[in-house]
Amino acid sequence: MSGLFISFEGIDGVGKSTQIDLLEKHLGELGRKTLRSFEPGGTELGQEIRNMLLHRKGQLGARAEALLFAADRAHHSATKVKPALAEGTDVILDRYLDSSVAYQGAGRELDATEIRNLSLFAVQGLLPDLTILLDMDAAAALARRDKTGNTPDRLESEKVEFFEAVRQGYLQLAAAEPQRFFVVDATASVEEMAAVIRARVDELLN
Ligand code: TYD
Repeated sequence: MSGLFISFEGIDGVGKSTQIDLLEKHLGELGRKTLRSFEPGGTELGQEIRNMLLHRKGQLGARAEALLFAADRAHHSATKVKPALAEGTDVILDRYLDSSVAYQGAGRELDATEIRNLSLFAVQGLLPDLTILLDMDAAAALARRDKTGNTPDRLESEKVEFFEAVRQGYLQLAAAEPQRFFVVDATASVEEMAAVIRARVDELLN
């Protein structure tokens, strides 16, 4: 039987990694085998693409950027995600195709349908069973992110308006696919968020 496929989404700074840690732990306690990975960069080839996307100096057009994210995703899907699901392992991803629709579509103002189709081409149509969207106001998320003191990468250097557009893009996606999306208020406490996420995942498992 195929494993459960869960993706986490949200703008930078909403606390995805903490929630992924907690869900991974929960699934482990239930005795389930899980693979945790991320995009961009979940494979060796992906690391090179990630580096180009986030750290390479010089101009990178919106379409080239979208294609690099899609190339990363295609390789990740074919070499890690699909094989794991096929052997019954649950897969938890820190970002998946909705990141492209929100960031390259709403953020970079490319056509959202084209971006979605590009990603679907990359992964041969594989959608997650559940997508957990951690939602928070862009200014608040950026303030949290900036407290980490890390130097911002190419995408992180965007202004608050960009992230607000990305956030709205995500909310539209969630409204269009309410079955797949589970929207969580990311201003709630870590434990409160973890509890609602666990409850939603447990529903799918029963
Ligand atoms: P991420 O690895 O989540 O950031 P970090 O490790 O710095 O917390 O993602 C890197 C950036 O790439 C992030 O700003 C979101 C962006 N991104 C896209 O624009 N499109 C995509 O398809 C993906 C997967 C990420």
